[in-house]
Amino acid sequence: MKILFACSELYPLIKTGGLADVAYNLPLALSRLGHQVRIVLPAYRSLLNELGHLRAVVAFSTRIDGYRLSLLKINLENTAIPVYLIDCPELFDRSGGPYGEDREHGWPDNAKRFALFCRMVTLIAMDQADQSWQPDIVHCNDWHTGLVPLLLATAKPRPRTLFTIHNLAYQGLFDEEEFKALKLPEMVDGKRLWDYRAVEFYGQMSFMKAAIVFSDAVNTVSAGYAREVLTEQFGCGLEGLLQSIGPRFSGIANGIDNRLWDPGNDQLIDTVYGTSSLHRKVFNKLALQEAFFHARNSERLVLGVVSRLTPQKGFDLLLEALPLIMQMPVDILLLGSGDQKLEKAFKQAALKYPSRIEVKLGYDEKIAHLVIAGADALLIPSRYEPCGLTQMYAQRYGTIPVAQGVGGLADTIIDIPPFSEDIADATGVLFWQYSSSALVEALQRLEFVYSNRLLWRDLQRAGMCEDFSWESSAKEYAQLYKSLLVAQR
Ligand code: ADP
Ligand code: GLC
Repeated sequence: MKILFACSELYPLIKTGGLADVAYNLPLALSRLGHQVRIVLPAYRSLLNELGHLRAVVAFSTRIDGYRLSLLKINLENTAIPVYLIDCPELFDRSGGPYGEDREHGWPDNAKRFALFCRMVTLIAMDQADQSWQPDIVHCNDWHTGLVPLLLATAKPRPRTLFTIHNLAYQGLFDEEEFKALKLPEMVDGKRLWDYRAVEFYGQMSFMKAAIVFSDAVNTVSAGYAREVLTEQFGCGLEGLLQSIGPRFSGIANGIDNRLWDPGNDQLIDTVYGTSSLHRKVFNKLALQEAFFHARNSERLVLGVVSRLTPQKGFDLLLEALPLIMQMPVDILLLGSGDQKLEKAFKQAALKYPSRIEVKLGYDEKIAHLVIAGADALLIPSRYEPCGLTQMYAQRYGTIPVAQGVGGLADTIIDIPPFSEDIADATGVLFWQYSSSALVEALQRLEFVYSNRLLWRDLQRAGMCEDFSWESSAKEYAQLYKSLLVAQR
């Protein structure tokens, strides 16, 4: 099959979260299964800087809505996968992140930016840009690609479309004036666009809703989250629509990059190790403590964090629970960046609990690997989690995830039974209520196992033996694509 994978971030060129990892690993896994995959994303300034010496070839140029857009073509680093970059300096050549000047403020013209991106994706999909390659499937990801299924809905002959929801909370909402400025057709496939049955969502335009309505299929990134978003609690107002599309909606879990996240061959950590040399993991703990200017102590239970700091990730709960957690013999080493309020609160916590909590604000690939390898446990108190990757990295490194039992976290972590020496095949600690007391209780259970070296080793080894590779998920995606092509006939 020929698959065009449309996304707004791509590891290692531009990344704010797990979407970038998926955009790299799923196409790679699909191509290993023999499929022809091409990736398309905007040519942000930081991405072009990252490319440096790699010369991109201009494959096509056009003018849409007064903007000059060019299609650049490169090969994804160390692979044969072609990557299209949509270049339009007026829209994408800016300092700051892909979505805004910083993580909290979106660019004011985001509707225009991503609508034009979607239009260019549609041209590639219809073989009108880089000619002589028409995909069978266009796989769209998150709201930034949300207009592609709509624009392709009535094209002929058209590829089938799959839309993957990585996070339902970010929907691409814009006011009616901005909708009008996009000059979309009034009717598509017999549906009036400015209508609650199409793109209108409580008086605003929703890119996410457009995608759900007009895609041939929709999925999200774990079976658990696929169930949860059908409820009012997790559905962000779209639960009714998702319920209504029935079997057109499913869940397929993400995998992880086993090559990049391999404790036996990780160039970014202090000491490599594996299930039969777990005693060497402690050197990473000492290196981690040193990197955080923390006293070196091999015995102390170290809780690590590697995360975006946003309300989704539940760190308000951790902050609330700190007075109780600080009565336990544990230290916290946190790497994260995001909301200024949360960043400030953790900086203050580090001042309040000197030599117990250390905080590094920022995005740092090397430190992330060191935390995952060096911490004893990884804290992931997410309010909701479509899939989550770090809990899988942690398990691979014999680092115990402590997480709320939601979405992909509940699907990929096997909880230890409370205060029992029979931990069977458990791989982590889950708590089932979003409350600071539930988090504290989970940490007490963690501490109980930590105090028994043999049990702790069993828990570590069980996680390290889990298979989170992309292969099986890629096969599920291929199956889903195939079903869309069969349904077309
Ligand atoms: P989300 O996409 O919601 O942020 P995921 O767990 O799916 O959550 O993916 C997060 C990705 O971003 C992981 O690869 C994780 O290692 C990485 N990451 C998050 N915060 C940082 C950080 N401050 N520094 C380095 N990597 C980070
Ligand atoms: C989103 C979700 C995260 C998921 C990632 C990749 O950022 O928050 O749970 O793992 O997308 O699908």
